[in-house]
Parts: sequence; structure tokens; C-alpha cells
Amino acid sequence: MGSRVTPDTLSAMKRRGEPIAMLTCYDYPTALQQEAADVDIIFIGDSVGINVLGYEGPQQVTMEDMIHHTRAVRRGVEKALLVSDMPYGSYATPDQAAQNALQLVEAGAEAVKLEGGLEVLGCVAAILAQGIPVIGHVGHTPQSREGGRAVFGDRADEALAVFESARALTDAGIIAIVLECIPERVAGIITKALSVPTIGIGSGRTCDGQVLVAPDMLGWNRTPYRFVKSYADLAAVTRKAFSDYVADVKTRQFPSDEHRFRIKGEELQKFKDLL
Ligand code: KIV
Repeated sequence: MGSRVTPDTLSAMKRRGEPIAMLTCYDYPTALQQEAADVDIIFIGDSVGINVLGYEGPQQVTMEDMIHHTRAVRRGVEKALLVSDMPYGSYATPDQAAQNALQLVEAGAEAVKLEGGLEVLGCVAAILAQGIPVIGHVGHTPQSREGGRAVFGDRADEALAVFESARALTDAGIIAIVLECIPERVAGIITKALSVPTIGIGSGRTCDGQVLVAPDMLGWNRTPYRFVKSYADLAAVTRKAFSDYVADVKTRQFPSDEHRFRIKGEELQKFKDLL
């Protein structure tokens, strides 16, 4: 096993120009596979709501949901940095943010991520004051920006707002920042200007690292986004396995000889006598 990933590891990777790989993860078996694949940051995103819990949007995700899934993922992670998302409404005030971040740490998170710019600086400061590392998230912010993932920062004023938010969050002490759906050239300028790593999603090649929502890249999501590279079609593989199983059961092909347990003849006779 390699050494544990810490916030210092991420800074060192930025300095060395070594890309950071981050993925969302919501359960124990997936955590085991992500660890085995040397994912640097394993992230329990509030996208758990849409991808696992069948919610309509991120705003339905609760602290209880995040704690439950953080605990499950924690059991499968030893090496990667484990980061949990602060769900919608969990950081309305700095006090509330600090208390909720603490709960996620108690569930196993080593850092928390929250969405927003200048308006969340007070919450970031309150969480950091508890010694909990924070990852920022600017650009497209699904908790507050309805609709599908759309580019943010393709107008100069928007790009400037993202830049200023990213810089203020960095000055406040965050350890990294997610840049979501920002034009590649704007992401490049922000990445160069910041001392902390930028992790892009839909923000092109100029970030210090990348994050994808695991169900999107595995083919679970029925409406894949343009910026997602597909690495597998698990929906098709899984559907085929389920329908093969149903067909086998209906035609009595499963279970077969190799799937059954046996009892010795004399034990069976004794059993029948007992009956
Ligand atoms: O919840 C999530 O999956 C996220 C990613 C888009 C980074 O916040």
C-alpha cells in the first residue's frame, strides 16, 4: 500500500505538476475498487441524491444521507483522502457549517467540500477554525444553480467573479478547489494564480486535477454530459446479467448441480425418520 494522501500531498502534487485524480463514491464496494485503483481523493458528493437515492435534485440531500454514505465509504478507504460534501442547507450560518462539518468528520471524512464564493467565506472560516480542511467549489454550483450542467464563466464578468471567489477562498485557507464547467482558458488562468490545487469537472485540461461523478463515467447515468468520458457501460452489463438471471430462473437453468449443498444419505434418512 502506498502512503496516505493528505492535504500536504495535494500541495506537493501541484508543485510537482502531478495530476490529482478524484472520483465520487457512495458505497463500500466502490470505495474498495477506487482504493485499488489509486484514486487520490475519494469524494462522497451530494450527487449521491440523484445517482443512488433517486432524488430529483441535490436540494433533497440531507445531513443524515451524507453521514450514512460517508460511514459506508470510510470502511473501504485507507489511503485516499476522504472528502464529504456539505449538503444544501447545511451551511446556512457559520455555526451550523462548523457543527455539520464536525459530524461529517465524526462519520469518517478528513475534509469537507462546500459550494459557493464570497458568500460562504464565513462558513469556510468557521469550519477551518475547528481544524477541518475545506475544499471549495465554484463555477457551476448545482445546489444553487438549477438545471443541467451549463458552462459558467464564459462572460468576462462571470469569469472575474469566479476568479475573485477562488482567490478569496484560497486566502481563507482552503486546501483545494473544484472548478465546475468553466471554460478551459479561464480555468488555466485561475489554476496558475492559485497556490492550492484546482480540480476540474467539465473545465478542460488546464486544472491541477480532475473529478468525475463515478456513475457518469461508468455508464450508469442515462443522460451523460458532454464533458464526461465514458469508461464502461455498466448499465448494459448489469441489465444483461439481471435478464440472464431471470431467464435462467424461469427456465430452471439456475440453480444447477454446482450451486447446491448436499446432505449424506444416512443424515437424510435420519431427518426423514425425525419427521
Ligand atoms: O456532488 C458531486 O458529485 C460534486 C461533483 C460535481 C464535484 O460536487
